[in-house]
Amino acid sequence: MKLSKNIKYSFCTCGLSKTLPICDHSHREHNLMHNTNYKSLKITPDSNVNVEVRSSTWES
Ligand code: FES
Repeated sequence: MKLSKNIKYSFCTCGLSKTLPICDHSHREHNLMHNTNYKSLKITPDSNVNVEVRSSTWES
């Protein structure tokens, strides 16, 4: 995935987003219903970079 300098990205950590790997705020309802505390992982790169994004909470 290409990340652009000085753009804020919010990566999903709960695995429920319909726009993986980017958070679509699905975690909010899930947290309310299941008493969990998922939050997105926010990254603002200081240069243009390519990254590989993986999570154990996402289906492959
Ligand atoms: S939807 Fe998964 S962390 Fe926001």
